[in-house]
Amino acid sequence: MGTPLSGTETADLPEFTEAPAEPLALAREWLAAAREIGVSEPLSMTLATASSSGSVSARSVDVKRIDDTGLVFGTSLESRKGGVLLENPHAALQAYWRETMQQLRFEGVVEVLGGAESDALFADRSPRSRAATAVAAQSVPFATGPAEGRAALADAAERLLDEHGDDVPRPPAWRALRLVPDYVEFWLGRRDRLHRRLRYLRVEGGWVADHLQP
Ligand SMILES: Cc1cc2nc3c(=O)[nH]c(=O)nc-3n(C[C@H](O)[C@H](O)[C@H](O)COP(=O)(O)O)c2cc1C
Repeated sequence: MGTPLSGTETADLPEFTEAPAEPLALAREWLAAAREIGVSEPLSMTLATASSSGSVSARSVDVKRIDDTGLVFGTSLESRKGGVLLENPHAALQAYWRETMQQLRFEGVVEVLGGAESDALFADRSPRSRAATAVAAQSVPFATGPAEGRAALADAAERLLDEHGDDVPRPPAWRALRLVPDYVEFWLGRRDRLHRRLRYLRVEGGWVADHLQP
């Protein structure tokens, strides 16, 4: 792991004189370089969604991987965001890495992955995190007082851990989701404010890339 940048330096980053054909491969290159430099939680991203009536909401999610199709994360379909995504799958993911002054933006449609892929993603979490996820009805208010409600969740999580050990089963509503982008943007901050922007738009059979003014 390299030394984190102080915020007054810029990393040795691409100048965008060229645009590789595949933005998701480029995103993985950026990610590998960010991990090398020591960027903190580079895949903690903001997920923005919009209801069918157009009201917008945003929250953080941990993207688990960027594959050749899109960005994969996990959540409950019964949460607020889950309900909104089932209503309108159009969404955006965004991250800013302050250590390197890089921003990544993805816009597209979210698909719900199958049981096997969801199981694999769920199994990747620690047993305690699986148990906590399994007992909580995400985004639902406590029916009792918060202290009582949290104590009941903690007890239920302990019972699940006692019963299943490392194999706490995935709640059926908790699924792996993939944002399949049709817009990808790489943003590289510059001290002279002439920030670099490389935008990809999906077209039939591939992508077109353009360098945008800052
Ligand atoms: C850094 C960070 C990462 C998070 N990762 C996830 C995640 O991967 N999945 C998830 O469901 N919630 C995650 N959360 C919690 C969400 O931000 C949010 O509170 C929760 O999903 C409920 O959102 P909703 O009411 O809009 O559905 C994360 C929160 C933070 C601060």
